[in-house]
Amino acid sequence: MNFKNKVNDLLDDLEVNIKSTKSGRTSQGKFILRSLELLKKSATQQSESVLDECSEPLISPVYILKALLSKKRGQDTLSLKFFEKAINATGSTSDILRINGDISHCYGFIETAIKSYDKAVELSPLNDQAFLGRGKTYSEMGKVTSAIDNLLQATLLNPESAEGYIALGNEYRNSSMNDAAIKCYKTALNREPENAIAQSALDSILELVIPHWHAAMLNDYERTEAFETAINATIKPETYVLDIGTGTGLLAMLASRAGARHVIACEAVEILAETATKIIKDNGFDDKISIIHKHSEFLSIGVELKQKADVLIAELVDASLLGEKIIPVINDAVKRLCKPGVIVIPCGATVFAAPFESKKIYQESRVDKVASLDIRLFNRIKPRMSLQTDLSKFQWKILSKPTEIFKFEFPSKKFVPKRHKFKLTPNTDGMAHGIALWFDLQLNEDTFISTSPFSASTHWKQSVYPLSSPMMVKKNKPISLLASFTENRINVDLGE
Ligand SMILES: C[S@@+](CC[C@H](N)C(=O)[O-])C[C@H]1O[C@@H](n2cnc3c(N)ncnc32)[C@H](O)[C@@H]1O
Repeated sequence: MNFKNKVNDLLDDLEVNIKSTKSGRTSQGKFILRSLELLKKSATQQSESVLDECSEPLISPVYILKALLSKKRGQDTLSLKFFEKAINATGSTSDILRINGDISHCYGFIETAIKSYDKAVELSPLNDQAFLGRGKTYSEMGKVTSAIDNLLQATLLNPESAEGYIALGNEYRNSSMNDAAIKCYKTALNREPENAIAQSALDSILELVIPHWHAAMLNDYERTEAFETAINATIKPETYVLDIGTGTGLLAMLASRAGARHVIACEAVEILAETATKIIKDNGFDDKISIIHKHSEFLSIGVELKQKADVLIAELVDASLLGEKIIPVINDAVKRLCKPGVIVIPCGATVFAAPFESKKIYQESRVDKVASLDIRLFNRIKPRMSLQTDLSKFQWKILSKPTEIFKFEFPSKKFVPKRHKFKLTPNTDGMAHGIALWFDLQLNEDTFISTSPFSASTHWKQSVYPLSSPMMVKKNKPISLLASFTENRINVDLGE
């Protein structure tokens, strides 16, 4: 809703409120209603003249109208003064004060809006609209806890309204409380199935928590086959398994099918955990697998896990290997939740990199001229990034033998971020446009999956790091490959 419509709606609201109170029937009330009518028709001067007829003591709505008229004339300080006066004037009901708060908020007088809502709530602790307005205002002020408290109260007082749930959902979403936000948007849609705002908010947050690669990952035959082989070779009838990040429960079911005594499967995203619970039930594994909706760091022995795990499964791997925090998550779980000598699947990874030539990939990562306009400055602010890319879909040429840049063990005994300079010798002349990165993920001693562009393709594809500017390389003339990693990121670049 645009600003003008919003203020007009509030004026309608004010009119209804005045008419429903005693003051609407007083002579002052009649002047106010006439002035309001003229204001809505944009007859500002006449509206003002009618208001001037009101005799002291002026009641709240008169000040609200004076504030609006001053604002229209561009007299912001005076307008603010009138909004303030409306708070303490006689004749102010909780609803009128809420409207005063809403209009002040619309005009950016945030502190005044809060004062007005405070008084509205003081007069009527059941005024859900005042809690809603105050919650939205606190949200704008960045006061998250107060915003959530007020919006929650608004939904409790008026559980039938979608608006409160949407506002509360937005606040949860902004605080990264995605599960709670999803619940709010769903409740809003339950109240108003056609509510486009709630639907779009729900769709956006679901895209965030169930990323687009989920279906591709589940359909990745190479991945499933390799995990099943490693799981079958590991699980024994007495094995107690912990599966971290179970998603739909697939690997937990494979472990159970392989004969595990019991599988504890945790999943941080509530909607996935709920779905996994249904999936394992439908597949007849519900007495063998316990799905826990929790992030692994909140699991403990004696609570979610009856005992320490013999086998840990944690498929927390993205295209550049470390982005899903596999290292800290496995290290923490092994230390707290697993028996000494636990078998971890996956147990390690080797990362490879090689410079490549591909004008197309490079061009797709940059901007140049658009509609004859020079946009190149954008390239300077563009973050250094890795793009998940299926190299086989492009024309590309590798410029040197792939180099093994890092080797990780899961758990990693001593984790120290590293930066290393490798010497590469190009085996051909060419223009380096980027560096391709891939890995061999070791699931157990005998089984690994490779995301190499020279192996069968997987849903991980490859990770491509475009250079900031192309670099000419000459056959047999060494260049440097700079590689570094932290707990959750690998970076690569080329140097002379
Ligand atoms: C790459 S998916 C793998 C899903 C499943 N294991 C499979 O192989 O089909 C990772 C899943 O782990 C969840 N996740 C990531 N880190 C987690 C953690 N530390 N604790 C619980 N769940 C986690 C994510 O929400 C996501 O659903």
